[in-house]
Amino acid sequence: MAEFVVDSSHLADSAGVVDSSHLADSAGVVDLRSDTITRPTLGMRAAMAQADVGDDVYLEDPTVNALEAEVAALFGHEAALFVPTGTMGNQICLRLVAGPGEEILTDADAHIVTYEHGAAAALFGIQTRTVVSKRGLFDTDELLSQVREGDWHTMGTNAVAVENTHNRGGGTIQPLTELTRLSVELRRRGVALHIDGARIWNAAVASGTALSAYGELADTMSVCLSKGLGAPVGSVVISSAERIAAARILRKRLGGGMRQVGVLAAAGRYALAHHIDRLAEDHARAQQLAERLDVPADQVHTNIVRIDGVDAAGLVAAAAEQDVLISKVATDRVRLLTHLDIDGEGARRAGDVLAKLLDR
Ligand SMILES: Cc1ncc(COP(=O)(O)O)c(C=O)c1O
Repeated sequence: MAEFVVDSSHLADSAGVVDSSHLADSAGVVDLRSDTITRPTLGMRAAMAQADVGDDVYLEDPTVNALEAEVAALFGHEAALFVPTGTMGNQICLRLVAGPGEEILTDADAHIVTYEHGAAAALFGIQTRTVVSKRGLFDTDELLSQVREGDWHTMGTNAVAVENTHNRGGGTIQPLTELTRLSVELRRRGVALHIDGARIWNAAVASGTALSAYGELADTMSVCLSKGLGAPVGSVVISSAERIAAARILRKRLGGGMRQVGVLAAAGRYALAHHIDRLAEDHARAQQLAERLDVPADQVHTNIVRIDGVDAAGLVAAAAEQDVLISKVATDRVRLLTHLDIDGEGARRAGDVLAKLLDR
């Protein structure tokens, strides 16, 4: 490791305090809007401060290189690439499996067609075609029936993109048997499978599935470090060595070639070491909220509680008045996400406030 002096003076005011002291200044507010709102713990900040760094565009950042190797191995792939956001990760993957004038099939509620501002079309000229899913869960036969073989007349499907867990679906987990069936059939047809695994960690922990079991089904994956894992920034693209070499050029083209980002990769490595298993706590708190709010337990697979049939804007505003923050995701739907910064007491208080507002 290179010689350096750590200036830890910025940590001084929290010296000797337990790792959750970063929560202190938000006491009173229970923020369930998203699992992206977490702030790095002191342990994570210390790992960031001590990270060995270099210029990653020159492939010389040892911490980034270590993170990439670690994530590739976890998913059983040859290589990986650190990118700033899940959106960039997804879009790089889509471009790896389809080009201008080519087609990607996905579901109508997928993040890539809901929250990425038409990037596949705007940046790469990729056509997306969608099928409607139930709570984000695809019906394998229905999805496969929409995969088209191209010829001189017909637009063929180059790739299928699946989200696991599914954000708008309410944190739902794609069953491994169905994912496997889809992957096998797509391979037989020469169609690629991309998995948007922003919350694949939640799926793995909740279903007891190995990350490598998901990895082996996908040709490309994008996984996020900045959602449930609690890193401040960062996603990782996973694929073959050949595709990751191409991904590196795409990342540069998109302005995502970063320099001494070992400080950020260190947060990701810390999250992998300390924050995967604890996702089970978030899932338990989501169940606690579901029970309090009469949401059927089997609708809550991971850390997202989706409540349908409500006046979303009214409920969000009324809850905020009582320091409980939730998200409106449709006019009649809200969502609550549990995460690293929500403890048992916060979940209990939010449950009480929302139950009263919902008359449940
Ligand atoms: C399923 C899914 N994919 C991708 C992303 C994009 O991640 P980012 O916000 O880092 O671009 C998100 C963000 O919430 C997501 O939920």
